[in-house]
Amino acid sequence: MKQEHVMLMLSTILIAFPLVQSVSEGPKAVETWFKEELTLKKQKVTNLHFYFHDALSGPGQTAYPIFQSNITSTSITGFGLTFMFDQPMTVERDPQSLRIGKGQGFSGSASLEQPGFLMNMNFVFTQGKLNGSTLQVFGTNPIRNQFREMSVVGGTGVFRLARGIATFRNESSSTIEYNIVVLHY
Ligand SMILES: *[C@@H]1O[C@H](CO)[C@@H](O)[C@H](O)[C@H]1NC(C)=O
Ligand SMILES: *[C@@H]1O[C@H](CO)[C@@H](O)[C@H](O)[C@H]1NC(C)=O
Ligand SMILES: *[C@@H]1O[C@H](CO)[C@@H](O)[C@H](O)[C@H]1NC(C)=O
Repeated sequence: MKQEHVMLMLSTILIAFPLVQSVSEGPKAVETWFKEELTLKKQKVTNLHFYFHDALSGPGQTAYPIFQSNITSTSITGFGLTFMFDQPMTVERDPQSLRIGKGQGFSGSASLEQPGFLMNMNFVFTQGKLNGSTLQVFGTNPIRNQFREMSVVGGTGVFRLARGIATFRNESSSTIEYNIVVLHY
């Protein structure tokens, strides 16, 4: 198994994926990829590192409440309150640093006892060779834990048939640091 460390700097993205399938391929090309290319490919490990910026208010707001339950206002965890978000992913902590994609999805209070969110999102990459590729991430976010862990359950583009683990931690009140290790072809 080949180990590739991708720090998601633009230059690294450009050299890390020499053989890239187009992200707008039709059904025939996808069938060919499964029948012919996949058998020749070796599974590899890619490490991704980036920052996620969360704004619940203000002019650059990135997350909005979309629904709640009839016990949200009385439950200690705000049970059922759900946000839809579209948050920038950047290479550095600085929100003005190079944006490599967006994290788009849902986050909803799913625990009656401890503060914890059900997360369901897409990492949609927009730079270099990852442009147009996505990762699908699903899991639980017990927000009081320093490190949280979610599954990467799939991917598209260069991440077809991906599986992996995303770990994340608060970097500040509005910035989350993500490390992802993903197996793909
Ligand atoms: C919430 O809605 C359910 C069914 O829709 C109802 O049975 C329940 O009594 C409601 N609870 C409150 C606190 O309004
Ligand atoms: C990413 O791909 C889109 C669609 O093909 C294209 O319009 C855009 O310019 C690309 N962005 C970068 C940074 O290469
Ligand atoms: C992480 O940030 C969220 C939102 O600001 C906060 O509710 C939570 O307690 C923080 N968790 C840790 C471990 O600091």
